[in-house]
Amino acid sequence: MKKLFSGIKPTGKIHLGNYLGALKNWAELQKKYNCIYSIVDMHALTIDIHPNELRDNSLKLAIDLLALGIDPKKSLLFRQSDVVGHTELAWIFNCLTPVAELERMTQFKDESKRSAGNVNAGLLTYPVLQAADILLYRAETVPVGEDQLQHLELTRIIARKFNNRYQRYFPESKPIISPARRVMSLKYPDKKMSKSHGEASYIAIRDDEKTITKKIQKAVTNERGILNLLELYSYFGTQNKYKEMMESHKAGKLMNLQLKEELIKVILEFLKPVQEKIAYYEDNKPKVEKILRDGGKKAQRQADQTMSQVKQLVGLK
Ligand code: TYM
Repeated sequence: MKKLFSGIKPTGKIHLGNYLGALKNWAELQKKYNCIYSIVDMHALTIDIHPNELRDNSLKLAIDLLALGIDPKKSLLFRQSDVVGHTELAWIFNCLTPVAELERMTQFKDESKRSAGNVNAGLLTYPVLQAADILLYRAETVPVGEDQLQHLELTRIIARKFNNRYQRYFPESKPIISPARRVMSLKYPDKKMSKSHGEASYIAIRDDEKTITKKIQKAVTNERGILNLLELYSYFGTQNKYKEMMESHKAGKLMNLQLKEELIKVILEFLKPVQEKIAYYEDNKPKVEKILRDGGKKAQRQADQTMSQVKQLVGLK
């Protein structure tokens, strides 16, 4: 089976954008690939995050991933910082990566505008660490949302540079994009759904009924906003109902209230069993810790093998 890697940052609550854009695929791809999934906590250090919050977020994220169908019997699930090798490989890649390539990354430009007081070097070299995450396991496939495509393109550039300079060793990893490649914000319908645009922009998978109802009721309903809500409906509702509402929208007859009520209903239906599983794992945290530890140990064995060969190839051994 081909190897697949993906990661998610523990910087806050996970939302329907993460789920539809990536995590739904993570769960489904377990059937076909040898999957390695990581809670990339070292990436979270690029923002100003309290140590307790980071620790707490990482465990909560592990719980969410298990509740969304990541199965530790089929896949490796681990904390990035539990495995030695990610930053070591990132350093070697840093020495192959032109600064100009990093400066043109859209996410770097956006993030440096947003956190103007904290444009740290980690923010700039973030995509190099991401390349190391993937290539430490020599993963050929990477399921992500559209916003990560540029980082994956850089991952391929880095792999090529390494292969040309030393020896053909790393694969040129390819993305897998889900149909929901870019889920949009409820409040700013022309921006992607994101943690950084405030609570009203997204539905977190841990949001309760009252919060979800309020957020959807308040969602912006200009033309773009309505199309986004309809698109969201298409992922959770029935295709017949979706087509019916789409046609009625085109005919100028769709009531916003009706669309919102239907959407609230299907999202709550989807989240009910997920939140029950979250509650189960919340009561069994030692079990979750053990899953992460075991995943980390197995990942470490693969990482050690790559690092030993890479060190040989570059002359460190
Ligand atoms: P992160 O933690 O921001 O997001 C995790 C995944 O969710 C996807 N996503 C979306 N997809 C569609 N619509 C949206 N509105 C939306 N918001 C988020 C992201 O594309 C991502 O797939 N740099 C990565 C983490 C990372 C990584 C890696 C990913 C670190 N190392 C190695 C893959 C491989 C990030 O910030 O994702």
